[in-house]
Amino acid sequence: MADRNLLEIDNVETCYGLSQVLFGISFAIAPGEMVTLMGRNGMGKTTTVRSIMGLTAARAGSIRFDGREVRGLPSYRIAKLGLGLVPEGRQVFPTLTVRENLVATAVERGGEGRWTIDRVHDLFPRLAERGGSMGNQLSGGEQQMLAIGRALMTNPRLLILDEATEGLAPLIRAEIWKSLERLKSEGLSVLVIDKNVEALTRVADRHYIIERGRVVWTGLSRELAAATDIQHRYLGI
Ligand SMILES: Nc1ncnc2c1ncn2[C@@H]1O[C@H](COP(=O)(O)OP(=O)(O)OP(=O)(O)O)[C@@H](O)[C@H]1O
Ligand SMILES: [Mg+2]
Repeated sequence: MADRNLLEIDNVETCYGLSQVLFGISFAIAPGEMVTLMGRNGMGKTTTVRSIMGLTAARAGSIRFDGREVRGLPSYRIAKLGLGLVPEGRQVFPTLTVRENLVATAVERGGEGRWTIDRVHDLFPRLAERGGSMGNQLSGGEQQMLAIGRALMTNPRLLILDEATEGLAPLIRAEIWKSLERLKSEGLSVLVIDKNVEALTRVADRHYIIERGRVVWTGLSRELAAATDIQHRYLGI
């Protein structure tokens, strides 16, 4: 099946204790696509990512990666199948150097296109310059680049970024977007969560907007760019 989706989420429901956050969310990502998940604060974007990664258990629905059901698997096994997460808040190791941070998450995976430190340095030259610095000595932008580099070192087939440009200066943001465009042009599948609609409609292929744990709108970049009513209603723009 050459044309099957890489990730397919069907009717996923997730709760924290008694409080339900996802009410049957469904979406899909084809190989090589860059897809976004948008929506206002607290609508369930991070919870969706946590459900995919098995960090918070989904209580219903189906999560298939490359045709295989992963709901219920422990998160380390899901990651090993080829899902790389850049979590909200970056979370680099503060007392390891940049180089050590990259080595610490490296995962050997057979086949071509394997990520190396040199390849990460080529994507983010700044990380090469800062190789000996501790994680906690980095600027916010450098930490974010390191967080992305670390996820890439696991050789993911799908890279998931949760608010990767939050709180960064415009120039650094532009650098991050450029790196994502490059990853996409190299064929990597990417799921992006971000609030920067202008940048997202420029770099991504398709979008899903969620509201209270359900998809309420989906479309292509040019459709979202033109749908100012949708942007206003669901994204507060
Ligand atoms: N660990 C938790 N325990 C209980 N409730 C939680 C927990 N984490 C998130 N929530 C609640 O779940 C809802 C969805 O949160 P989530 O973090 O998924 O939203 P989000 O769309 O990522 O928001 P943001 O844009 O602010 O990052 C919110 O109402 C939030 O308060
Ligand atoms: Mg979030």
